[in-house]
Amino acid sequence: MVIPPPPRMPENGNYAPGPAIVNEPPSSFLIVMNITNIITQLLLGAVTCCAIITANFYLPFNGTAFSTHIYLCVIGYVVLMTQAILSLSPFTGWSNTFKHQDKKTIHLVMQIIGSILAITGSMIRIFNVAAHFQSAHGSLGILALIFTCLSLIGGVANLYSHRLGVDPKFIIIGHACFGCITIILPFLALIFAFDSNLYRGTFPQTANMAITFTVLALVGTLMAACLNMVRRFK
Ligand code: HEM
Repeated sequence: MVIPPPPRMPENGNYAPGPAIVNEPPSSFLIVMNITNIITQLLLGAVTCCAIITANFYLPFNGTAFSTHIYLCVIGYVVLMTQAILSLSPFTGWSNTFKHQDKKTIHLVMQIIGSILAITGSMIRIFNVAAHFQSAHGSLGILALIFTCLSLIGGVANLYSHRLGVDPKFIIIGHACFGCITIILPFLALIFAFDSNLYRGTFPQTANMAITFTVLALVGTLMAACLNMVRRFK
């Protein structure tokens, strides 16, 4: 590859006026947000691993329904739905190369696939247990399921906001707020799952760590969602 030579200095010492390309150092806000984003991604990976290890551990004892429940819920909520939220953040490396319109399509597709997996995973367990609403984990999981279905409808309303005759700003804010609640609920369910006798009894050394990772990953994901909302209405 031939590297072009640098532009020659004009005789009078002044370059012709034009858009100046200045390599300014990144602001401390940008650095903090980029680091926060990377840490959030790592924490989400760690939470996923903790849950998947549990699923694999119980596969020979509890049969496939229990493990499938964990796999589908965790991949749906913790992997896909969080990445769908993070994809719209300007601090997320993997989505930075896409235009805003493409990011919206990626967000939509990830939300739909994530929701389908999470709903299926929850339904499998609901049909698999004899009594419902017996634990904080189960109750929050069912609430998360209801909010996920409603959120999907909200997402479609957001898509057609210009045709509904309502100020699109309200629909976008409503969709974002509802989306935040929808992601908080499965994370709370997961925290109670890691706090359960089942998890603490099996992996006593990692329960507190898994809970801490889940809380911090949720905070990081919500931070990106809130900043996005503020940025859009500045
Ligand atoms: C984001 C992830 C998760 C969600 C949204 C979720 C959701 C649910 C739902 C909806 C139920 C049915 C509750 C009922 O019918 O009353 C349930 C039951 C159950 N889940 Fe999960 N789950 C998740 C992850 C996990 C993990 C990681 C574990 C294991 C550590 C687990 C263990 C259980 C157990 C033991 C039950 C049956 C007893 C109970 O209701 O607590 N779940 N879950």
